[in-house]
Amino acid sequence: MHRERKDARLKRIGILTGGGDCPGLNAAIRAVVRKAVGVHGAEVLGFRDGWRGVMRGDVRELTPETVRGIVHRGGTILGSSGSNPFHEGGLDLVRAAYRDLMLDGIVAIGGDGTLSAAAGLTDEGLPVIGIPKTIDNDLSGTDLCIGFSTAVQVATDALDRLHSTAESHNRLMLLEVMGRSAGWIALEAGIAGGADIILIPERPFDLEEIATHLRRRHLRGHSFSIVVVAEGAVPLEGTLSLPEYPVDERGFPRYGGIAQLIAPALSASTGWEARVTQLGHVQRGGSPNAADRILATRFGTAAVDLVAAGGWGRMVALQGADVVDVPLADAAKVRPVPEELYRVAETFFY
Ligand code: F6P
Repeated sequence: MHRERKDARLKRIGILTGGGDCPGLNAAIRAVVRKAVGVHGAEVLGFRDGWRGVMRGDVRELTPETVRGIVHRGGTILGSSGSNPFHEGGLDLVRAAYRDLMLDGIVAIGGDGTLSAAAGLTDEGLPVIGIPKTIDNDLSGTDLCIGFSTAVQVATDALDRLHSTAESHNRLMLLEVMGRSAGWIALEAGIAGGADIILIPERPFDLEEIATHLRRRHLRGHSFSIVVVAEGAVPLEGTLSLPEYPVDERGFPRYGGIAQLIAPALSASTGWEARVTQLGHVQRGGSPNAADRILATRFGTAAVDLVAAGGWGRMVALQGADVVDVPLADAAKVRPVPEELYRVAETFFY
């Protein structure tokens, strides 16, 4: 069996998971540990709860034994939080952790918040490498993030179930899915689950237009309709007022509830009974599907290659079929759903 040479330069790396959890994090942790320890002979230290664990020195050694049997498990054995050293005056604590633990660098598995902090630390001269994860799939520089595929599958399964009950009762069914200010989950699950309308943030909606479309559909003999609503969907200006969403610790809107607002209006203008399902955190929980386990494993092993090559300040990414790496600073820009994909979905809105 071919084995790469143990790398004398690589001695000790840290690893953390930050932001909202998602399926596939454990598969990524396992891959980093197995490659760093097994191939490079390095030590891996796992920080608890993202950047908070770095600031608090909450750390333990991860070995191939401690990551055994986790490839299929949801959540993260390291715990996660949205903690950010720059918002908490923790830069000196992070520097101290690097120094005291004699770290070559840290592999940060995260979404925009965790990776923005990673990019900031890079600017401060601290070595970090990023692995992209978020069910929202909205990070720039990569075609896919860990967790997205499973979330789409969960939402698609929900749509399949809603179809049969919608049909039995001649109802209008609205499924609200996560995604923050990008419509990736809504659009891909909507395509896979045969939605009749998909509302995404990238395409402001007009309730009157949707009602007209649904009425026409029902006049043509359809007895039910399925509408997928991204939690961050926005109405065309002046057509409907949304409530003020509360904000999270980073000042971003905490979405949820838009489908409940739309349903009565659609029911009134179509004369159809409407029901709402808000899928919520079910999309983030449970076992990763095979695609997420494979992506996480590819990203984890590639991240260690990048560490060994001294590629600090970069993030592993999928572009087409290839794992590449891109500057960490590029990742945190929201990547909207492309027009071309929306047009595919739109083909079925009639
Ligand atoms: O970013 C992932 C995500 O699940 C979003 O889709 C959702 O808006 C948000 O996190 C929910 O966050 P929380 O776990 O804080 O409720």
